[in-house]
Amino acid sequence: MTGMDEALVVEQVFTAYDRADVLQDVSLRIEPGSITCLLGSNGSGKTTLIRSILGLTPPRSGRIVFRENELSRMPTHRIVRLGIGCIPEGRRVFPRLTVLENLLVAAHDERRAEVVAGRLERVFATFPQLTERRSQLAGTMSGGEQAMVSIGRGLMSAPRLLLVDEPSLGLSPRLVQETFAVLQRIHEAGVTIFLVEQNVHQTLGIATRGYVLAKGRVVTEGTAAALRADPLMHAAYFGAGGTEVRR
Ligand SMILES: Nc1ncnc2c1ncn2[C@@H]1O[C@H](COP(=O)(O)OP(=O)(O)O)[C@@H](O)[C@H]1O
Ligand SMILES: [Mg+2]
Repeated sequence: MTGMDEALVVEQVFTAYDRADVLQDVSLRIEPGSITCLLGSNGSGKTTLIRSILGLTPPRSGRIVFRENELSRMPTHRIVRLGIGCIPEGRRVFPRLTVLENLLVAAHDERRAEVVAGRLERVFATFPQLTERRSQLAGTMSGGEQAMVSIGRGLMSAPRLLLVDEPSLGLSPRLVQETFAVLQRIHEAGVTIFLVEQNVHQTLGIATRGYVLAKGRVVTEGTAAALRADPLMHAAYFGAGGTEVRR
């Protein structure tokens, strides 16, 4: 090994909100430079894993390690500072703040004005459509535009690793395609992506490899090509007798 291990490693994680464990013995690796996906039907525990990584709902046991730091006892702001960004489920933008204010709030941890300005410039270069709308209230924008603001917010901390929680939810097929193309561009610019999704077909179209979660457990893993053909993945969506995954 040379240099620091940049992978994010989840080892035997159990996470609970109250008494029952939602995540049960989850282990996975997000390799630097990859688009790694986590597939699973509604309620399988995908958001809970993101919350565990970010320290919002820390694991009850197990380890989460990123760049040689153990995250599971660390406060969220320190985890973010290590280079982990998030685009939360449901595109949470502040409706009464402008586009520019939404982006600036997401960089509030960075005090150097020139660094913030540089990040803003990169977000506006990624989403030229937002440039002319920087003074518009986010709540008055379309769903697709709010999706861009939400991704832009995720980039304002200049993450090495971006956790993306169900970006396709509630978007039209055209906007899903656009969103995934944007994620691919962000990846090409050097950001590792952990893409959590129900949408199997489009997700495996851009992911390097992935894991499938069912009832809080990893039931199978592999390359995108292997997962497409994996009966365990199909079963995770439709039960043991399942035939076809939703497209
Ligand atoms: N804040 C919470 N308090 C208690 N239970 C929760 C909470 N959030 C999620 N759960 C439960 O955890 C399970 C997994 O939820 P979640 O991680 O949101 O799944 P997914 O993101 O895959 O749809 C579900 O059974 C859900 O009801
Ligand atoms: Mg979820």
